[in-house]
Amino acid sequence: MIIVMGVSGTGKTTVGQLLAKEMAIPFFDADDFHPESNIEKLSSGQPLTDSDRKPWLEILGKEIKTWEANGGAVLACSALKEKYRKTLSTIPIEQLTIIHLSGTFELIKKRLSHRKGHFLDPSILKSQFEDLEACHSAIQVSIDQTPDKILQEILSKMSNKTAFGIIGMGVMGQNLAINMANNKVRLSVFNRHVAGKEEDIAKNFVAKHPALNIQGFDDLSEFVDSMAPPRNILLMVQAGTAVDSIIDELTPLLGPDDLIIDGGNSNYLDTNRRDQALALHDINFIGTGISGGEEGARKGPSIMPGGSRTAYNRIAPFLENIAAKDANGKACCTYVGPEGSGHFIKMVHNGIEYAEMQLLAEVYELMRNGLGMQPEEIAKTLEHWKTKGLDSYLLEITINILRKEENGELLLDKILDAASQKGTGGWSTEAAIRLGSPLNTIADAVMARNISAQKETRTAANELYGQIKQPISKDLDSFIQALMEGYSAARIVNHAVGFDMMKEASTQYDWSLDFSEISRIWTNGCIIRSELMSAMVNFFKDTDRLLFHPAIVKSLGEQQASLAQVVGQALASGYPVPVLASAMNFFLGYVNGQSSANMLQAQRDYFGAHTYKRVDQPLTESFHTEWT
Ligand code: 6PG
Repeated sequence: MIIVMGVSGTGKTTVGQLLAKEMAIPFFDADDFHPESNIEKLSSGQPLTDSDRKPWLEILGKEIKTWEANGGAVLACSALKEKYRKTLSTIPIEQLTIIHLSGTFELIKKRLSHRKGHFLDPSILKSQFEDLEACHSAIQVSIDQTPDKILQEILSKMSNKTAFGIIGMGVMGQNLAINMANNKVRLSVFNRHVAGKEEDIAKNFVAKHPALNIQGFDDLSEFVDSMAPPRNILLMVQAGTAVDSIIDELTPLLGPDDLIIDGGNSNYLDTNRRDQALALHDINFIGTGISGGEEGARKGPSIMPGGSRTAYNRIAPFLENIAAKDANGKACCTYVGPEGSGHFIKMVHNGIEYAEMQLLAEVYELMRNGLGMQPEEIAKTLEHWKTKGLDSYLLEITINILRKEENGELLLDKILDAASQKGTGGWSTEAAIRLGSPLNTIADAVMARNISAQKETRTAANELYGQIKQPISKDLDSFIQALMEGYSAARIVNHAVGFDMMKEASTQYDWSLDFSEISRIWTNGCIIRSELMSAMVNFFKDTDRLLFHPAIVKSLGEQQASLAQVVGQALASGYPVPVLASAMNFFLGYVNGQSSANMLQAQRDYFGAHTYKRVDQPLTESFHTEWT
């Protein structure tokens, strides 16, 4: 028994009839089963309510039982809401296949306007889209193709072929696979075979989770064959050359319209290059940031796909189902923009993450060593900060870290003070230089990790210079209050720094990034989710520069003096505070109507005849002076 569902104008009748013919079973149209009262209402142009629909759906539910007992049928029925589908589900779930014909509002509107003699009020179509609730168990088929192609896609999806593939069964790949399979996606997974190192990884994973009904492979062509075309293949392999190698192996096995999605932390410049190279083979490509670590991947990450919009529309139901949900229940996944824009914003996300982590590390060091506070006291203070508008995932994990003991001792004290990094922070800094954009807090967070990694040099220098660190303040309470305000100010600046660079990239690369929407998909699932991020969703509806929003002008204007005080006292007492100081310097530079760069220009012209512009002459003209 097959139900073909979807909003008006998706071609349920055409496709349903083709399918019924192909399968040699009868076709029925749900509209032919309305009780008399509904027909009267419909013919007088009145919309049906849920209670009008109830008896009709119950009639269909009974018919479905009979049709199934007689060898099956195809029924075309909009079945937009989950409760309608529940009423229709009168037979065991394994005997019922639901096919959802989906398309964008614009496409369907266009099609309806071309249908001869057919008029559908756009507001009715709009209300149908509003009523439409995702059907996770349905076979999803895009209507953006000919009826014959739609039929072929349905037939191949109804065979044993799977709907989605994942390559790379590392921690992220496995957890995303579990998340997808839990969302009823029929899945193939692949992991390479490396003798003695990576053997039967995919098969063992599948065997460990029998209920998920996943197919596992270590042969790439068998993996590709197991999927229904057009194929959707998510790469969860290490960023860099591994991505190029797997794309090279996959390309000859794929056909037109197949789609490769790179879900690793790839450099956006690589994504731009791969996007162009795959287009030559008619293979779609999407580069997507996925944030949230292991837990996010399993329970709901934040997803940032960039690349082909048509390809995104096709896989949107898969990605949006597995993504975290925002406060309004909307998926933390959105089409970001063309080319490598998805990976670009993930890179900036990580840059903001680096600086947010460093800020918390600086706050910790000032409290622990500068103020002599115990870890539990610090944890309690930070818990109080959570109630002051500073709540965030990173603040929460910092509190938990401050309470984690091993054999009665703080685990943190046993961890070597040399930070690692995998590249995204550094790439953000390189991008800032490429774009000519200031990136103070993020660049300084990267440099703080670099200096931390030079443990031997630091230890030797420490012996040469002796103890510079001194207790910070006798007035603990007032310093903690200033620290809280300074931390809040630095966070605002850090977010502004990252978003300003995205604005620059959006302009230079012509990506039309939507900053409110980017903030929205970062309100849950990702590492930098926070109360501030949630507020930014609305701030970016009013302005595209965070520091220009009146609410920010007010709060940062009030807090900046505390940041200056904290930075001043910290430096004078011998504590490095690179990101707190960087935020202060960025802020003062940003609000500086008259900078000292006139001196730089004079110096450049003095020794190199580089010329300068004058404030008392048109800016189109350049001047040079013989300085001696
Ligand atoms: C995330 C994280 C994740 C990872 C980064 C940072 O958004 O889930 O940012 O992508 O933690 O790779 O790693 P490094 O600190 O090692 O550069």
